[in-house]
Amino acid sequence: MRPFQFTYFATTPEDTLRLGEIIGQRVKAGDVILLCGDLGAGKTWLTKGIAKGLEVPFSYPITSPTFTFVHEYPGRIPLYHIDLYRLEGDIDWDSLGLEEYLYGRGVTVIEWAEKLCEAFVPERFLKAEILFYKKGRKIKISTNIEHLKRIGYDLNSKLK
Ligand SMILES: Nc1ncnc2c1ncn2[C@@H]1O[C@H](COP(=O)(O)OP(=O)(O)OP(=O)(O)O)[C@@H](O)[C@H]1O
Ligand SMILES: [Mg+2]
Repeated sequence: MRPFQFTYFATTPEDTLRLGEIIGQRVKAGDVILLCGDLGAGKTWLTKGIAKGLEVPFSYPITSPTFTFVHEYPGRIPLYHIDLYRLEGDIDWDSLGLEEYLYGRGVTVIEWAEKLCEAFVPERFLKAEILFYKKGRKIKISTNIEHLKRIGYDLNSKLK
C-alpha cells in the first residue's frame, strides 16, 4: 500500500510547532516518527511541538540527547526522543537497544532518521522530511499509519 503523503509549508517556527502539536495529539503507543533534514532544518522544533501535543509538561526542556542515547519525557503516553547525528562508522545497531523503544509503550521520535539502518525502519511510521524553502520550511510528510493520515485534515481545519 502506498503511504499517504502531503506537503506542508511552514513559514515560521510557530507553523513547525503547530504541525508537531497536531502529530502529538494523534499519535498512539508504538508509533515511530522519523525526522529527516539538514542541520538546523527544524527537527527539534517539530519534536517540541509533538511534546506539546502529547501534553509533556512545559517544565521539561526538549533538547536533543547528546550524552545519552535517548531522552524520555512523560506525556499522555511516554515520548522517546532519539538523535542519530553523532552515530558514525560501523554501528552495532543490535547493541543500541533501539528496539526496546520502537516497540515500547510510547512514541519514538528519531532525528537524523536518514542514518537509520534499513533493518530498523519500522513497518508503521510517519516520516517528516524538512527542507529549507525561502525563509521557512517545506515539510514532506508520508505515513502508513491509519490514524495519522488525518493530520492533513486537522491542519487544514485549524488554518481556516
Ligand atoms: N518553519 C520554519 N521557518 C523558519 N525557521 C524555522 C522553522 N522551523 C524551525 N525553524 C528554526 O530553525 C532553527 C533550527 O531548528 P532545530 O534546532 O529544530 O533544527 P534541527 O533540525 O533539530 O537541527 P540539528 O540538525 O542541529 O539537530 C530554530 O531556530 C527554529 O526556530
Ligand atoms: Mg536537532
